[in-house]
Amino acid sequence: MASKTFLLSSFFFATILLTLCFKLSTAQMVPAMFIFGDSLVDVGNNNHLPVSIAKANFPHNGIDFPTKKATGRFSNGKNAADFLAEKVGLPSSPPYLSLSSKNASAFMTGVSFASGGAGIFNGTDQTLRQSMPLTQQVGDYESVYGVLVQKLGSSPAQKLLSKSLFAIVIGSNDIFGYSNSSDRNKSTPQEYVDLMILTLKQLVQRIYAYGGRKFFISGVAPIGCTPSRRVRIQSEACNEEINSMAVTYNERLKSMLQKLNSELKGVSYSYFDAYAMLENIIQKPATYGFTEVKAACCGLGTLKAKVPCLPIAKYCSNRKDHVFWDLFHPTEAAARILVDTVFDGPSQYTYPMNVRQLITV
Ligand SMILES: *[C@@H]1O[C@H](CO)[C@@H](O)[C@H](O)[C@H]1NC(C)=O
Ligand SMILES: *[C@@H]1O[C@H](CO)[C@@H](O)[C@H](O)[C@H]1NC(C)=O
Ligand SMILES: *[C@@H]1O[C@H](CO)[C@@H](O)[C@H](O)[C@H]1NC(C)=O
Ligand SMILES: *[C@@H]1O[C@H](CO)[C@@H](O)[C@H](O)[C@H]1NC(C)=O
Repeated sequence: MASKTFLLSSFFFATILLTLCFKLSTAQMVPAMFIFGDSLVDVGNNNHLPVSIAKANFPHNGIDFPTKKATGRFSNGKNAADFLAEKVGLPSSPPYLSLSSKNASAFMTGVSFASGGAGIFNGTDQTLRQSMPLTQQVGDYESVYGVLVQKLGSSPAQKLLSKSLFAIVIGSNDIFGYSNSSDRNKSTPQEYVDLMILTLKQLVQRIYAYGGRKFFISGVAPIGCTPSRRVRIQSEACNEEINSMAVTYNERLKSMLQKLNSELKGVSYSYFDAYAMLENIIQKPATYGFTEVKAACCGLGTLKAKVPCLPIAKYCSNRKDHVFWDLFHPTEAAARILVDTVFDGPSQYTYPMNVRQLITV
């Protein structure tokens, strides 16, 4: 009797397990996802930097995260990297610096190199220069590549990587940096943006040389409209100088990607017009379920943007109504909407294809 029950229950167990495995494997759309970028997609790398000020591993960050704990994400809950991982059916790529042992099995489904404060240029986190700039992130990826090749062999590793998604979300900190630095005296906004694009192009080429083929690359949002910049203007208007740099950067980025696509064999990419998307949200918030587009949810003072979202700050209860969580970053609600668009379009915001199309080509 007992053994029959046992058999029966193991049969059910096996069936459930099989069904689960099947569901998991069919839902997983890419073998791995590698993330490069700044605080918009950092899932905890900066927690491991000794004294960086670009950290979010303290309350009230994370109050809507599944664990209700601060994880290092600059958000009340999940961020864009988490939502993108959900879309492709993978767990969020772990922070590179969190991996105690840098072995192949830890890398098989992807890694995140994103670091709050990072830029295309080195030293965009002006004060302590600890964030990992894009150049360093790509260098770390090259080490990951080496480990994968050693473990799997060159050809299987190339195959895995050619089907993987390489997501790059960067540029905001460089543009913020220009408006407050000696760069102003060295170059015009156009020259500065051109150098950003040239540097980024070289880094994408390096990822390509190490197996990357499918790239998701985001443009810069209207960051002059973040609470951090509105609070510095009496009328609480957007900083148009910063926004116009973002527009110029995005134009150049789009044509650089077009060119790269024709230069490098086997590359495909999806460019996301984060500028147009966020601008539309700010202009027609109700369409997206928002009521507050200017003020941060967490912080102190005017627009909750005089003091950042530190443990001493206050936070709003209606977080789903707010576009901005703190003076720089979107709420979980806004990040979710952005990634829905990244993944499924429409073509107004994704060029020449959305990420769903990118991973199936
Ligand atoms: C591989 O790395 C992961 C994460 O760092 C670790 O948990 C695991 O024990 C490592 N495995 C081996 C064989 O070292
Ligand atoms: C950034 O720093 C790295 C290493 O320190 C250096 O190799 C690279 O050229 C620098 N990149 C830029 C854009 O200055
Ligand atoms: C530039 O940054 C410093 C600190 O990093 C700040 O004190 C200063 O107000 C900023 N200046 C402008 C014009 O934003
Ligand atoms: C830029 O140049 C002006 C005039 O030469 C100088 O007064 C100013 O201090 C410089 N600013 C920076 C940030 O280097």
